[in-house]
Amino acid sequence: MKNYDVIVLGAGAAGLMCAARAGRRGLRVAVLEKAEKPGKKILISGGGRCNFTNLGTGPGNFLSANPHFAKSALARYTPRDFLTLVEKHGIAWHEKTLGQLFCDGSAKQIVQMLLDECPDTVDVICNADVSMVVKDGDLFGVSAGGENFSAPALVIATGGPSIPKMGATGFAYDLARQFGLKIVEPRPALVPLTLGEDDLLFRELSGVSAPVLARAGKTRFEEAALFTHRGLSGPAILQISSYWRHGEEVGITFLPQADAEWLIEMKRDKPRAGLRAALREHLPDRLADALAMKLGIDVELGNVPDKALRAAGERLADWRFSPTGTEGFAKAEVTIGGISTAELSSRTMEAQRVPGLYAIGEAVDVTGWLGGYNFQWAWASGVAAGEALADTGCA
Ligand code: FDA
Repeated sequence: MKNYDVIVLGAGAAGLMCAARAGRRGLRVAVLEKAEKPGKKILISGGGRCNFTNLGTGPGNFLSANPHFAKSALARYTPRDFLTLVEKHGIAWHEKTLGQLFCDGSAKQIVQMLLDECPDTVDVICNADVSMVVKDGDLFGVSAGGENFSAPALVIATGGPSIPKMGATGFAYDLARQFGLKIVEPRPALVPLTLGEDDLLFRELSGVSAPVLARAGKTRFEEAALFTHRGLSGPAILQISSYWRHGEEVGITFLPQADAEWLIEMKRDKPRAGLRAALREHLPDRLADALAMKLGIDVELGNVPDKALRAAGERLADWRFSPTGTEGFAKAEVTIGGISTAELSSRTMEAQRVPGLYAIGEAVDVTGWLGGYNFQWAWASGVAAGEALADTGCA
């Protein structure tokens, strides 16, 4: 039996941050990771450059059954705090767009930084698939990779089930349930939407992308949308997917900057032009052609009544799609839902009913928008738990 002050399950973003914090405050920490190396999702993130935070992070960028839960941790560990750490380690970075910060070099630098932040009191143990967790009195016992570990504190940082081919599972939820904690039903988020036969024409536009305004219910995002052979993707769609519910429509504004009367103005300026040509001035050719065909206007604009052009403009401003579903956890960047925040202290991430048990990162029912917010939650919740563990003096 190996005895520690804290056992952290999962060497991902949240687990490594938590371990580094607790370790630097003098605690002996075991981080148990089932993969052969730590931080695998960090390594593939942001196209290999890791969009490690977002300067605009605020509680409004997160979905949760309790929208207030994330406030405390996010306020106590900000994007600027993480940036200070990145700069301390000499990692070059840049802002891409909308406050999104990326490494100039490689996501490997972020994983290495987190490992370097762990002092000698932290053991990161890979190939340690956790098979059993028990609580005996005040101590947690964990079996992993053929060894047994024990500690008075246990941190669940095993993430969510998105991208199962990377080994992601619902392990965190099984463990939480084992200790009587409630789970908010998990579902895929930041995920492409699939279209059915009615929208076949659009599925044929695979590879075409355009700036749009996408809407689901009252939520809207203005970014690029991408047509795929199965449906819709791209940042605007991934963002809206987190809010979309089965059976709902998704509304797309194809020319978000266009005036409602723009086709009528075009008719006055260029009466000999057709709708295809008018649309081609603002949209990729293949998309313009598909929209013109769907709108069924194939004569010169000068011969189309204003009423019909106004109706076409209105349709372009609010094109309705009825997604048949999402591409599921296989393609979802994150998972919505998870360990209920009602079970946890928003200050410490400790389970109210199970002293010594903590949950952080994606395992918890806090899900960020696309754009570095999910890592910021992983860092902030990891710091909150790491500091709380040190304050309670598990040692
Ligand atoms: P994470 O999943 O990172 O870590 C959990 C760890 O626990 C894993 O290493 C896993 O192997 C381990 N584990 C699981 N079960 C175990 C068991 N039974 N025993 C032992 N270990 C176990 N976010 C962002 O902000 N910016 C970005 O650029 C991106 N990009 C991105 C790209 C892609 C393709 C994906 C899939 C996701 C992103 N994300 C992102 C989301 C981001 O990766 C995610 O929110 C964080 O990795 C969550 O961090 P966690 O530490 O909570 O879980």
